[in-house]
Amino acid sequence: MESYAVPVAVALGVVAVAMVLRKSSKARDFDSQINSGLSMLQTSDSVLAREKVSTSMEEYSQLFSGKTGQSTASGLKGGDLTTEESIAKRQEGYRTMVNNFYDLVTDFYEYGWCQSFHFAPRWKGESFFESIKRAEYHLCSRLGMAPGVKALDVGCGVGGPMRNMAVFSGATIEGITINEYQVRVGNKYHEQAGVGHLCHTTRGDFQNLPGFKNGALWEGIEYRGADWTGKFDCAYQIEATCHSPNKTRCFSEVARCLKKGGLFAGYEWVVLPEVKYDANNPEHVSVKESIEIGNGLPTLATPAIVKQALVDAGFEILDAYDANEGVHDPHQIPWYETLDGKMSLSGFRMTRIGRSCTHAMVTILEKLRIAPKGTTHVSAMLNATAIDLVEGGKKEIFTPSYFFLAKKL
Ligand SMILES: C[S@@+](CC[C@H](N)C(=O)[O-])C[C@H]1O[C@@H](n2cnc3c(N)ncnc32)[C@H](O)[C@@H]1O
Repeated sequence: MESYAVPVAVALGVVAVAMVLRKSSKARDFDSQINSGLSMLQTSDSVLAREKVSTSMEEYSQLFSGKTGQSTASGLKGGDLTTEESIAKRQEGYRTMVNNFYDLVTDFYEYGWCQSFHFAPRWKGESFFESIKRAEYHLCSRLGMAPGVKALDVGCGVGGPMRNMAVFSGATIEGITINEYQVRVGNKYHEQAGVGHLCHTTRGDFQNLPGFKNGALWEGIEYRGADWTGKFDCAYQIEATCHSPNKTRCFSEVARCLKKGGLFAGYEWVVLPEVKYDANNPEHVSVKESIEIGNGLPTLATPAIVKQALVDAGFEILDAYDANEGVHDPHQIPWYETLDGKMSLSGFRMTRIGRSCTHAMVTILEKLRIAPKGTTHVSAMLNATAIDLVEGGKKEIFTPSYFFLAKKL
């Protein structure tokens, strides 16, 4: 079992130093660590009541047979979550699963990562944030985004990519996310960043975009008669449709909202049977399932499944490849390295030790009843999955950046 003695001591030290030196300029970093940690746990925009965090986490955990917080290294045994029955349970409950998941983790992501909730291939000499933005600008360039172009961001999170891409390209971007909290903070951030005239976030389900014909909408989602059919010049998704319970349905909805000939690009999470993923290797299956547990996924797809879904949804595939295929090229820095714990001052919170400090901090804050009950469970789940994301990358059995570019026929 991982020992938290050192991080607990570090976290206590951070709290103490921050309190003593609060007003000193030298303490700015400590101050920011502790203040953003506290505001992460007490945001006024939160839609999840404090007393519901624990129940929500339990509900979420049930969809994964109570295995949240376990990693392959800590003894997680793969297999149970890849059965048809287990996958069907998550496909059926996807809206509650994904919504609960993002109610629980959005602040952790923003605190530990940044406002763009995705990975990126990275070349030597590039900073983490430069690589994140380059992946986003790559989409702008492949989609021909420019002033006057209307783009759809499918599964937009709190809108980090959208804002960067709007500033870079001048295009108008409409984002959609199933999570109400992300809508609230996303629209606030658009205004704060001065791009409110270019960016907007709507609450909705990418399986049923505004104007959908069959099925019923879910609690809290209200399109008020809006119809997006044929409204957009292009669309993109960044590490979002991995949550889809049925990619053909999701991509068909995107196709419906595009003009004829409109382009759709994305970065998809997949396991890689053409590279090293072996579905008969229990350790590979365990890594795959750990990634699903810690990220709210019904099940991970393969590149073949993604491409077939695009074709079945009425797209012609123009390009498709793993943007991380050079993951172990000596000129590149692996996409998972930030999580693997090389010491980095700017990205300290993402590293293994940084995450352990965050975990220690929330454990203490939960004990002091500052953080809601259940927060430590969320943090443990994110730590466990980070370990297996790294394993998936090291073993070349998983990529979060399977790039595709497709044209609506
Ligand atoms: C990993 S985050 C990526 C967010 C954003 N693309 C980014 O890179 O910052 C996945 C996003 O997909 C959204 N999502 C998942 N399932 C969805 C659904 N059925 N309908 C709409 N959004 C969904 C989540 O709410 C979340 O915002």
